[in-house]
Amino acid sequence: MADKNPFPGENNTGHIWDDDLRELNNPAPRWWMIAFWASILWWIAYGILYPMWPGLNSYTKGIMGWTQINEYKEGLDEVQQVRSVWESKLQGMTAKEILADEGLTSYTIASAKVLFGDNCAACHGSSGQGGPDFPVLVDDDWLYGGAIETIEQTITNGRKGIMTSHAKLLTDEEIDKLAAAVMSGNPASEPLFMGKGCFACHGPDGKGMQALGSANLTDAVWRFKADDQLASVKQTIKHGVNDASDPLSREAEMPKFGDRLSENDIKKLAVYVYKLGGGQ
Ligand code: HEC
Ligand code: HEC
Repeated sequence: MADKNPFPGENNTGHIWDDDLRELNNPAPRWWMIAFWASILWWIAYGILYPMWPGLNSYTKGIMGWTQINEYKEGLDEVQQVRSVWESKLQGMTAKEILADEGLTSYTIASAKVLFGDNCAACHGSSGQGGPDFPVLVDDDWLYGGAIETIEQTITNGRKGIMTSHAKLLTDEEIDKLAAAVMSGNPASEPLFMGKGCFACHGPDGKGMQALGSANLTDAVWRFKADDQLASVKQTIKHGVNDASDPLSREAEMPKFGDRLSENDIKKLAVYVYKLGGGQ
């Protein structure tokens, strides 16, 4: 073949197509060979150092003793070490002191998010937005008060606001009048508000009393929110809230967490709720 090679002196294989398209027989470039051998060496070294080959009952463990679960545990230890520094700092501080420290506050909010999801979100919504029967925690309208100590108390001891049923005390007509006055935002303009004792719990101006958790009736922020708000207001006036003597009374109870969560967790949750936007 060599003598018939139309390209004498060239290192081709003798396979020639279309007159001049030919297959050369050059060695692979040097850089390519280096990379090739290096990758084989790397593969062997990897097999020696790390777990690699499956066997019948086990696998080669590698001389470094590396396992995925160990790496995970080491990572976890690291996180817990960082956390324990923060946690022990929090132990000795009041919620108010935490709020005064920006770094601690951010840490607290981040770590209380899970606590809130586990313990509070079912009633108050995942971001504290509330629901028809559960108060909003993201606004600055408070039944019991938005001071940090008050929020802590609410979480520790629970709350159960009581409004007496008026089913036997008011006629339907009187309920209509009171409901209309409440809807107008000026309940005190209705003489029945004084005459029937509403002021005793809601205050003479109808703005509510935080010691009793009686809702502010002048701000159009509804504790018992409904599509038909007038009907909801009438229902509350007629049957009250948590009045055991009236089976139609609304039920509204904030459970106590003092016996379920640690003091530290409650402190964190108080800071979290405070920082949801409505702290005072
Ligand atoms: C079973 C439902 C339920 C769960 C769970 C719950 N709450 Fe409540 N929460 C309520 C109800 C109902 C009220 C209103 C009580 C009332 O009207 O007297 C309330 C009231 C509150 C208030 C007072 C709001 C105000 O306007 O003064 C705060 C603060 C609060 N909850 C925080 C929390 C936190 C934090 C958690 C989790 C640790 C939590 N709640 C878990 C039902 C719940
Ligand atoms: C014994 C105290 C008490 C009396 C008396 C009382 N209320 Fe209430 N009222 C409350 C409390 C406490 C709440 C809030 C309950 C809760 O959120 O758990 C409330 C809630 C309400 C609400 C619901 C507001 C909302 O945002 O959804 C209306 C409306 C209302 N009261 C109107 C009246 C009227 C009108 C009278 C007089 C006929 C009256 N109340 C008498 C304690 C009282």
